[in-house]
Amino acid sequence: MTKQATSHIEKVEGNYNLSNYETIRENFDWEDAKELLSAAKTGKVNAAYETIDRHVDEGYGDKIAIHYINETEKRSYTFREVKDKTDHYAKILKENGVKKGDRVFIFLSKTPECYIAILAAIKVGAIAGPLFEAFMEDAVRDRINDCDGTLLITDQELAKRVPQQDIPSLQTILYVEDIEKEALQPVDGDQFVEWVDWEDGLIIHYTSGSTGKPKGVLHAHRAVQHHIVTGKWVLDIKDEDVYWCTSHPGWVTGSVYGLFAPLLNRATVVIQGGRFSAENWYSLIEELGVTIWYSAPTAFRMLLSQGDLYKKYDLSSVRHVLSVGEPLNPEVIQWAWNSLKVRIHDTWWMTETGGHLIVNLPAEKIKPGSMGRPFPGVQVGILDDEGQELPRGEVGQLAVRTPWPGLMKEIWGNQDKFKSYFQYEGWYISGDLALQDEEGYVFFQGRNDDMINSAGERIGPFEVESKLIEHPAVEEAGVIGKPDELRGELVKAFITLRQGFSQSKELLEEIRVFVRKNLSAHAAPREIEVVDELPKTKISGKILRRQLKALEIERANANKVNI
Ligand code: WT7
Repeated sequence: MTKQATSHIEKVEGNYNLSNYETIRENFDWEDAKELLSAAKTGKVNAAYETIDRHVDEGYGDKIAIHYINETEKRSYTFREVKDKTDHYAKILKENGVKKGDRVFIFLSKTPECYIAILAAIKVGAIAGPLFEAFMEDAVRDRINDCDGTLLITDQELAKRVPQQDIPSLQTILYVEDIEKEALQPVDGDQFVEWVDWEDGLIIHYTSGSTGKPKGVLHAHRAVQHHIVTGKWVLDIKDEDVYWCTSHPGWVTGSVYGLFAPLLNRATVVIQGGRFSAENWYSLIEELGVTIWYSAPTAFRMLLSQGDLYKKYDLSSVRHVLSVGEPLNPEVIQWAWNSLKVRIHDTWWMTETGGHLIVNLPAEKIKPGSMGRPFPGVQVGILDDEGQELPRGEVGQLAVRTPWPGLMKEIWGNQDKFKSYFQYEGWYISGDLALQDEEGYVFFQGRNDDMINSAGERIGPFEVESKLIEHPAVEEAGVIGKPDELRGELVKAFITLRQGFSQSKELLEEIRVFVRKNLSAHAAPREIEVVDELPKTKISGKILRRQLKALEIERANANKVNI
């Protein structure tokens, strides 16, 4: 950071939900978070009830819960309307035989119906399985098959990517077009709510690792204890806030901080349909008067690349901005401060952790380049390869003392994988490398495995490699994250060709489209390089991705020297 910037990274004064940080840090107990929920008084647990119905029962039925906006339309729903709609969807789920614990998948684009379908599944006690809207056939099939989903809510368009014949467990597909056609009959009270236990399954998110297919990370209803308190203190939600999280609920950021945390705190949530464009984003903020904005470094970098465009809009409603998913570079913090006159608060967590763990609380001192400090009640450790804590300032494995309410309940059907996160007694191992300074600030130092992070999206190289070698021209493939200014990393594939095939621009494009069409656009390699041979381990013959990555980094450095 340059000198003139230091003033804004210092602690700032303001009217925030949490003022006495240091006292809270010392005395915080997760049981206090539980007290924020209605279940603390009634003893009855259901996350969907807490998120929506509760506010109606407490007299806030007329408050706007959702603003939906896309290129062509704008609609809003009050908390009462969202309750009525979730009841309507819940009734239809029950009529279709959905029982407590069933896996109900939701494959919809970012629309109010997507949020409502997720909440309805949870309301009837099912485990919601939201799917990202860009998934193609293989990605959809693998996920529903893995946990034997029995019912899917989708629309006519996305249903084309659902290979039902290859998903034996899937008995029913419901189309939102049909559900929306049926007359809605509001019901009083909680007749569709299935009261559950804190440990019962809430939501399952599939996420990539460095090996194998995506894993089903299952969260329990207790996670809402984590969501509500971090929503209050980290997002700093107050009654009058208009809150916008840019992530799709198929990703954990979109469900936890796009749906649960803000609505548990009775915010008005913005759902934006359609594609990213800087103009759309800025005009959305202006039109809806967004006050709190949660997004990702790649998105901020895309806005930054648009230069002075922000000057055309009145963005003065924005009072609190947060970031997650990938390293937030100091330049971006500086840009937001200079242009939008706001500080960006970085947050660190993972699909598996179910909620924020390392954060910049509003108003606290920000150290650009750092992800912040542990949330009250969270203890971070930097461990060596034997699981021993390292002194401050040294780089090691980023670990967190167990347990906390948002922590995953299990990896679906994979006890070994689940256990692998807890190999050192009392610690959760994140797979990230980091260091912690004397003041407790944590600095991200990369991954400890081959996982790729492109534009904040987690991509497993194995999934991409498996798809690549299904193409008739590809013999072998090694996939890595290549450093990239805009996306952090981009997916790069090194391949060898089968006999009879020779390299051409057309062939490489065909291979890229093959992955894109079958797996997903975000996982398709942006670069494919044909090599004669891939580096492998001598004994087991495994492809050495690290060597490929080292090669890319070497090339990038060589280029810098040349300039
Ligand atoms: C991985 C988790 C749930 C958050 C969205 C992504 C990386 C996350 C940061 C940050 C640098 C970050 C880590 C982590 N990551 N936040 N603030 N700075 N890296 O969730 O898909 O489960 O990915 O994202 O590598 O392990 P995810």
